[in-house]
Amino acid sequence: MRIDILSLFPEMFDGPFASSIIKRAVDKGLVNIYVNNFRNYAPDRHKVVDDYPYGGGAGMVLKPEPIFAAVEDLRGSPYVKNPQKPVILLSPQGRLFDQNIARELASRESLILICGHYEGADERVSQHLATDEISIGDYVLSGGEPAAIVMVDAIVRLIPGVIDCLSTADDSFSRGILEYPQYTRPANFRGCQVPDILLSGNHGEIEKWRRIQAVKRTLERRPDLLDSASLTAEEQKILARLEYFNHL
Ligand SMILES: C[S@@+](CC[C@H](N)C(=O)[O-])C[C@H]1O[C@@H](n2cnc3c(N)ncnc32)[C@H](O)[C@@H]1O
Repeated sequence: MRIDILSLFPEMFDGPFASSIIKRAVDKGLVNIYVNNFRNYAPDRHKVVDDYPYGGGAGMVLKPEPIFAAVEDLRGSPYVKNPQKPVILLSPQGRLFDQNIARELASRESLILICGHYEGADERVSQHLATDEISIGDYVLSGGEPAAIVMVDAIVRLIPGVIDCLSTADDSFSRGILEYPQYTRPANFRGCQVPDILLSGNHGEIEKWRRIQAVKRTLERRPDLLDSASLTAEEQKILARLEYFNHL
């Protein structure tokens, strides 16, 4: 997979992409990540990328020319939108990023992420260049860079071969619910004991316990997820039982 990031502050990616899973994925050749400064595509000799908003108001708006030129350099000109080759504008006004979107994007061969700044990008970037607009949450960041880092991390760990797929299979949100609680040694830490079942060596019972805990935890913390989660028949029974006891 190839990921291109368009940003005015490429140095913001140095640390996050130079360690842990992203670095390993790059080193293994499973993903190529390029951070491109779209200031280099500004047409004038002063490399101006922003201008005052039409109609007045505070702040500066990113001009369309450098962003279009950068994308056309990567995708070819004349540029034709192709959802199979996503060009994503990061924006607090976009659809909310989640595990399903991460999975969908991890299956693409290439991806361009456009990081806005200041008051954001000229609306024509959203209308005529981006195939999608994505937000990482209902808050406003100063720029799209932290959002791009979040998205790249979530996407890269889902690329086959990056990490053991068994360790992502039960991750929170993978099947629509939260993951069960995890423990490691010591079995007794400051008087707090690991549940006996996990020390029993009975793998069938441990699996059953984990399924109950995952449903219970989701019901307690994120009941909204249960509306769209694809629960197995057994998990549905667990949920019905938990809801019954909650109502007693
Ligand atoms: C200060 S914000 C602009 C906010 C814009 N004036 C608005 O109110 O919608 C600057 C840039 O940060 C990025 N950004 C801010 N919040 C974001 C979020 N929640 N998700 C993704 N990107 C975000 C976008 O790229 C945006 O263009």
